[in-house]
Order: sequence, then C-alpha cells, then structure tokens
Amino acid sequence: MLSPTSQRPSQRTLTTSAVVVVTIIIILLTLYNLGDTRVVSGGSPVQLSGDEKDTARISTFDAAKSTTLSNTPGTKQDVVKIPTGSPSLSAKAATSAIHLAISSAPAAPNEPRRAFVTFLEADTGTNHGDEAQGTDPDNEDIYFVATRVLGYQLMHQPETRTNTSIPYVVVVSNDVSQSKRARLEKDGAKVVVVDSISDPEWLNTKQQYQGVMTKLRVFQQTEYEKMLYMDADMLVTRRMDAIFEDTGTKIQHPKKDMDTKKETAPLPSSFMLAGQAQQLDRVHKYPPDPSLEWMCSGFMVFKPSQEIFEYYASILERENSFDPMFPDQNLLNYAHRWDGPMPWTNVYYKWTSTYPTIKEYAMGAAALHEKYWLDINRMEDEGQDILGDMWLEVKRDMEAFYRDNNG
Ligand SMILES: *[C@@H]1O[C@H](CO)[C@@H](O)[C@H](O)[C@H]1NC(C)=O
Repeated sequence: MLSPTSQRPSQRTLTTSAVVVVTIIIILLTLYNLGDTRVVSGGSPVQLSGDEKDTARISTFDAAKSTTLSNTPGTKQDVVKIPTGSPSLSAKAATSAIHLAISSAPAAPNEPRRAFVTFLEADTGTNHGDEAQGTDPDNEDIYFVATRVLGYQLMHQPETRTNTSIPYVVVVSNDVSQSKRARLEKDGAKVVVVDSISDPEWLNTKQQYQGVMTKLRVFQQTEYEKMLYMDADMLVTRRMDAIFEDTGTKIQHPKKDMDTKKETAPLPSSFMLAGQAQQLDRVHKYPPDPSLEWMCSGFMVFKPSQEIFEYYASILERENSFDPMFPDQNLLNYAHRWDGPMPWTNVYYKWTSTYPTIKEYAMGAAALHEKYWLDINRMEDEGQDILGDMWLEVKRDMEAFYRDNNG
C-alpha cells in the first residue's frame, strides 16, 4: 500500500472510503452466508457447504442454459456440482448411537445399512410420455424407463452416483414383467418383488393411483436401517449419500404424552419419516414456508419396520381415516401429522423440491421432482425447458452407458 504521506488529502479520503466500503461488503457477505446455512427447518445443512459458489456460477437462466446445453464434460461438471463438506460430528455420533441401539443383525460397523429405494408397479397406461420409443415394448412404459434413469443417476452417473456403495433397491409389485425385472437387475439394481396391496373399497381409487398402496411395502425392507425413497420422476443433480446424516433423519420415539385411544394399531417403538412439504404450484417460496404441513411422499427418508408397516395397514383398513384424493401421500400425512404422536420432520431444504424451477436448481436443490418426459413440464416458464433437457440428456447418457457396458 502507498504510504499516506505520498498521497494528496483527496486521494487519502478516497482510499479510506474504499476500504470502508469493501469492509462493509465483506461483513454483509459473511452475514448472508451465515444466514443461508441457518435457514433450516429441522434438517441440517451439513452436506452442502460451498453452495454459494454454485449459485454464483449459475445465477441466471441464460448462464444455466448455455452451460447445460454444452456437451463438454468439464462444463457439465460445473453444472452438476458435487456437494463438498463433511457430515457434522454430532450427526454422525447420533447415527452410530442409534445404530448400536437398534440393530440386532450383525452389520459390519463401517457399513450402515442404508439404501436408495423406489417403487415400480405394472404399467397402468396413464403416464405414457412423448418419449416412448423403439421396438422394445417395455420402453413404452415411461415409468419403467424413468426408474432406470433414476438408477443410472444413483449408481453410475459420475456427478451423482453413490460413492459409499449405497444400493439402489427397486420394490416391484408382482405384476411387473420378468423382462423388466431382469433389465433392472442388469442395470445394477436390487429388485425386490412384493405382493400387491389391493385398495380397500372405500378408497375408490382413481385410475392413475391404482396399485399405489403397494408402495407402502418399501417400509417393510427391514434389512435397512434408513432408506431414501424417491419417485422415479426425479432429476438428481447432486450426490445423495450424505442425506442419511441430515439431522432431520434422526430416529425418534413416538410421543408418550398423547392420547392414543383413537389409534388404529399400536405405535411402533421407534420411527423416522423425513422429507419436504408438497408445493401446490410452480410459484412458491424456496426454502419452503416452514409452516407447510403436507409432506410430499415422492421423496422421503424413513426407517423401515414391520411395526410401522402394520400401523399404516391398519389406517388403510379404517374407512375414511384420510382423504383418498392422494392415497399414499395422505395416508402417510395422517400417520405423521404434526399434532399426532409421530410428526414427520423436514430435511435440509436443498435436498429436494416439488414443482421445481431453474431458480431452485441454481440454489442447489438436489432432487427435482417432475415428469420431464411430458411436454407440459418442459415449457419455457421458470426454466422448465432447461431442466427438461437435462433429464432427457441423462436419459440419453444412460442409454449410451448401458449400450457400451452391458448391452
Ligand atoms: C463422496 O463425495 C462427497 C461429495 O459429494 C465427498 O464429500 C466425500 O468425501 C466422498 N466420499 C468418499 C468416500 O469418497
């Protein structure tokens, strides 16, 4: 720095003002960053340090568009930024304590029993996309294709695949064809065939949701201590492994001080259901308004147990226990209502988004819940077309990957 004596007074004033301005900016930025990591309703931001750089990198639609559509691998890595940072020690300690407390089967100490899971039922024919193609009739079932795309993202895509060997489990109802099961296994998924759960008459299920209650069988996969369930219509933009360390996913006990006389069955001794509120529209707050109580069942971290499954089954049997408009989602929201004994918890908001927009992607949202195979979800509004193109690109990458690797 120049010595003050070499400057005329006006220059000195200027320099001093500049220093003050820069200092203020630094203080403001620091406060902003601290603020950002504290915008948490339940979950923890442990996994996502370094996000601010991402946001700066892709802060405008145009920037996202030009980077996304470029095919150079280097650029792509910039877009699909891998979260950095390590799980907080306390979350880790809590998890291992819980692990010791509840695991009866001998699991290797370094391998917590965790898994990604999704659910596939036989093609109901209501969700055929514009992307159905080829001579393979299985590819007419876009949900099946999307289940493979999700698996590719979680198992193989360099930017998003598990780096802690977390398996991808696909729970399929027994009416899913052999050829589909075989294809999923060839992809690397662990296929678990389950008996369909038939809807009780009172549900009067809409065609598009028929068979969806079978999804509840993901809660019976008790060889795992924690699972992340995702619907197949999901664009994954970050590695998901660290979600199991999120403080929102701590295993809990039902509240003791509640009147449980009206409960349909005994409550499980412990439980965990964590996720994010369901938005109702593309235009919404992000982070979501913390007072929203209706959880989206398309993305949930949970502790499987036979007890919780039986509890859900008992709710299903009791007529009018929930609004059947959204069958599985409303059942779970009833079971885990905030004024009940087993309230659901929020994960850190950046893990996912419903009705996602390009802004949420730019803010670092990791799993974007949308059916990008439908033209209606690929409009230019809110950058839908960019996100849609990203999903289609992942799908093409998947096809090329399996063509090159195992046909
Ligand atoms: C896995 O990737 C994350 C970033 O996504 C990184 O922080 C972590 O250290 C990696 N873990 C292993 C075991 O390589």
